[in-house]
Amino acid sequence: MKIAVIGCGNMASAIVLRVHEENESIQFYCYTPTKIKAETLANKVNGVVCDTLNDFPKDIEYWIIACKPQQVDDLAREFKYKSKNIISILAGTTTKKLGKIFNTDKIIRVMPSTPSEIGMGISLLFFTESITQKLKNEMTSLFKACGMIIELEDEDRIGPLTVFTGSGPGFLFHIASIFESELTKLGFKDICSKEVISQLFKGVGNLYSDKKLDALTLQKQVTSKAGVTEAGIESFKQQKLDQIIEKSLKSALIREKELGK
Ligand SMILES: NC(=O)c1ccc[n+]([C@@H]2O[C@H](COP(=O)([O-])OP(=O)(O)OC[C@H]3O[C@@H](n4cnc5c(N)ncnc54)[C@H](OP(=O)(O)O)[C@@H]3O)[C@@H](O)[C@H]2O)c1
Repeated sequence: MKIAVIGCGNMASAIVLRVHEENESIQFYCYTPTKIKAETLANKVNGVVCDTLNDFPKDIEYWIIACKPQQVDDLAREFKYKSKNIISILAGTTTKKLGKIFNTDKIIRVMPSTPSEIGMGISLLFFTESITQKLKNEMTSLFKACGMIIELEDEDRIGPLTVFTGSGPGFLFHIASIFESELTKLGFKDICSKEVISQLFKGVGNLYSDKKLDALTLQKQVTSKAGVTEAGIESFKQQKLDQIIEKSLKSALIREKELGK
């Protein structure tokens, strides 16, 4: 199978590296305007660098579009290929818009997340009607390499879910960074805060996923009456942490809608 990768930044590289690890027979053709990232990625996956957008072979089966949403109009102006299955990872860019600019109705919209890099991501998949079941199956097995897959029947659900799956890693890294700097402030010179906090997140994540209980029940199970954890949780409640997080998620959702216009 031949796959073109147009835009080889962080997200495209994470996906392509994972897919290559699972299936070395796929041949990737990489392009970026400055060539540097295309070369880096192609070298890692035994791929081919295309110097210009006109250098792709005629029998490419899938085109992964992975530039920034604001760069896609420039890209589409130069894109001259006819038969095409477009896989877009562009945040907020609808299949209607993509269909117009690439002049095709065969579009697969994927919303990946950064843990895809280690096969632990969540990929939201939406297929336009013209995508056959065979192509759907091919895509599903391709993106399985990146972690969990959620296939959506309704494209409008991508936005709200992206706030959790796509921006979620950023939110959790932010919280981890607060823990990290608070631990560092305590001055344990012999202990690496990053190691401790990343193990904390890994342990809690695995436990949360292994147990059949919801997060609140698990939190209650580790909170003894009048204990240390309870003192911290009570302070969260007094400062209305729930409302702060709720408001932040709403702000992210509003921005996601603005970008999609
Ligand atoms: N990062 C995330 O967590 C995440 C999550 C979900 C979705 N996404 C989506 O993934 C896409 C890429 O994000 P990223 O973080 O990987 O960005 P990035 O690291 O900045 O990579 C963007 C790539 O696009 C290339 N590019 C720029 N203009 C182009 C053009 N006219 N034609 C072809 N390629 C062009 C750039 O080439 P040069 O190297 O030559 O500049 C670069 O390789 C975005 O649309 C974003 O919405 C990202």
